[in-house]
Amino acid sequence: MSAPTSIVRYTPHARQIAVHEASEPHVWAMMGYGTGKTTLGVMEALSLACVTHPGFEGIVAAPTFPLLFQSFVTEWTRWVPSAWYRQSTHPMYGPHIDVHVDQGVSRIWLRSTVDARSVEGINAAWLVYDEASRETREDPVRVLRARVRRGYPGRQRRHLYIGPPMTRTHWTAAQFGAGPDDAHQGDAMGWTDGRRRVVRGRTRDNPFLPPGFEHDLRTQPGTSKAWVKQFLDAQMGAIEGAIYEAFDRDVHVVPAASLKGRAWRAVIAGVDWGWAKLGVMLVIGVDGRGDLYVLHEEAHAKKNVDDTPNGWLRIMHRVCLAWRVQRVYCDPSRPGDIEAAGAKLSGVSLVYPADNEVAEGIRRLSARIEWTAERARVKGTTGAALVGRGGFFVSDACPVTIGEFEGYVRKRERDGSFSEQPEKRNDHAMDALRYAEMETDNAA
Ligand SMILES: Nc1ncnc2c1ncn2[C@@H]1O[C@H](COP(=O)(O)OP(=O)(O)OP(=O)(O)O)[C@@H](O)[C@H]1O
Ligand SMILES: [Mg+2]
Repeated sequence: MSAPTSIVRYTPHARQIAVHEASEPHVWAMMGYGTGKTTLGVMEALSLACVTHPGFEGIVAAPTFPLLFQSFVTEWTRWVPSAWYRQSTHPMYGPHIDVHVDQGVSRIWLRSTVDARSVEGINAAWLVYDEASRETREDPVRVLRARVRRGYPGRQRRHLYIGPPMTRTHWTAAQFGAGPDDAHQGDAMGWTDGRRRVVRGRTRDNPFLPPGFEHDLRTQPGTSKAWVKQFLDAQMGAIEGAIYEAFDRDVHVVPAASLKGRAWRAVIAGVDWGWAKLGVMLVIGVDGRGDLYVLHEEAHAKKNVDDTPNGWLRIMHRVCLAWRVQRVYCDPSRPGDIEAAGAKLSGVSLVYPADNEVAEGIRRLSARIEWTAERARVKGTTGAALVGRGGFFVSDACPVTIGEFEGYVRKRERDGSFSEQPEKRNDHAMDALRYAEMETDNAA
């Protein structure tokens, strides 16, 4: 840097550090209101322009110009000494910032995706896209991404997306995943597929906010639980019409390790047969207080219910032995498969046709899920322990079940309203769970 007239004093908080240290070329800072998103974007842009790709171009974008100027440019002006750069407008390419570096200048193009074509002709080394998730269309994002093509030889060309979580059908979730699963390693606060990393940050993770900032937002009139979950706690929003609306990864998903060695009052299993679609077997533990835990899942497509090495019967046998499953409740639509399972599991577990009362099963599970969330809330705010009803938890070793909780939706009527009936998708683990839930009175 040539003759700095002052310095930048930036002490990033833990979630900002997680973004700065991410080694993947594509990073999404999935963060709530006021988490320090724009600030970390300014620091990334500054370091990409001055340190990683000096003398090359970069792009800072937002869905609209007002957003870009109100947030990014405002924070930039606050943090970066004015002698370090010059902001101006190119007759063809519009507004940009030239940062003075030893190699000459690093140019930062300021762009909105309202008119994505305005980036044609730019060859950038990096992209920082503030409020990216507010862009509903993926096309302009692709156009921006395609401009990242030339940088300092041998150095990573970085794409940083910044913005609050959206729903699981949004392009951000399609690109970055919706949480840890077979393809993504990590935990609830961040995950990666090796090339794309999500760093989650909640409003409360920013220690630099004025006292009361979050509390005021949480308690302002008209604030819904869903809004708080999405925009302060930075959890992906439920799809409209979600059946288990109160399902919350932070409350209901528990580490598999925390369940090891626990004693169960009963261990049962639910089975939903499937061949073209997923077949699912869930192992469920009921503890002394009546709480229900999904301990293990088997989810496979294109497996027959037969006693071959690749068939369901051997899987069921192995799982029942390993988890000491006492009773297995199966989708009642296939009596032949239930009979075959009963014969194979003889001496290990008892096998029954399940009670397939859909509305009742959903009602009972919803009650458990809501009660568990309420229990967590009361414990968190007053420290008091609510007792009296059974809760629900699922091990983080069960990604299919967790994913279905968030994608299990009601059918739409022709007028667009939601019916009481669930849609017949994302329902395989949900059905297996209902079968077990309907028998928990017997298990308890
Ligand atoms: N590491 C830091 N050190 C000091 N102050 C910080 C830091 N990070 C963020 N802040 C301050 O916290 C406040 C919120 O930060 P910022 O505007 O970057 O958050 P944001 O997530 O972009 O918010 P919004 O949701 O409003 O876009 C700002 O006043 C900012 O200056
Ligand atoms: Mg911001």
